[in-house]
Amino acid sequence: MDVHTRRVDVRDGTPDDATAVADLERACLGRDAWSEGLVREGLSGTLPTVRYLVAEVGGEVVGHAVGSHAGDVVELQRIAVRRDHRRSGVAAALLAQVAAVAAPEDRVLLEVREDNTGARAFYDRAGFVELARRERYYADGAAALVLEASASSLRTASSA
Ligand SMILES: CC(C)(COP(=O)(O)OP(=O)(O)OC[C@H]1O[C@@H](n2cnc3c(N)ncnc32)[C@H](O)[C@@H]1OP(=O)(O)O)[C@@H](O)C(=O)NCCC(=O)NCCS
Repeated sequence: MDVHTRRVDVRDGTPDDATAVADLERACLGRDAWSEGLVREGLSGTLPTVRYLVAEVGGEVVGHAVGSHAGDVVELQRIAVRRDHRRSGVAAALLAQVAAVAAPEDRVLLEVREDNTGARAFYDRAGFVELARRERYYADGAAALVLEASASSLRTASSA
């Protein structure tokens, strides 16, 4: 069956997902990838503010999202999807679950490289707006954009 018509299941990550998530980090995020040790620590549940979500298609982990929850802010630290499963709604399903586990009044914030056109198009479509621009934020001199959306607007967008 074509990946674009297969069902996406989103669930909380567990320590058993560490290798799959670390592989996704390496494949999707290059030199910004988190190490398997860091991923394992996050999935162990010992970091109380951090929540890992994984997306499965046909029993395989093909995407993940990581939110850090503090007060009324969820910082979306990660969202990534395996290349051969992109443009089939996997990231949208992950983001919908990030919003679903947040309180409706929470703000969802994230940083994205200004030159990451694919991710920016995804966030734009989801309803994020630009809050700030950080000049020369990354090691290679690229700027970061800080984007924001309310959890309630993301919930509405995902159910539309
Ligand atoms: C950004 C990313 C997570 C999107 O994942 P995805 O599963 O392909 O996204 P979805 O299929 O849920 O996309 C939903 C909508 O967002 C928009 N969109 C997503 N990716 C896009 C792209 N590359 N170009 C243009 N629009 C895009 C489209 O409107 C899409 O709907 P459509 O396919 O019906 O047109 C994925 O490209 C990725 O993993 N990139 C590498 C990691 C990364 O840069 N993460 C963000 C770091 S801040």
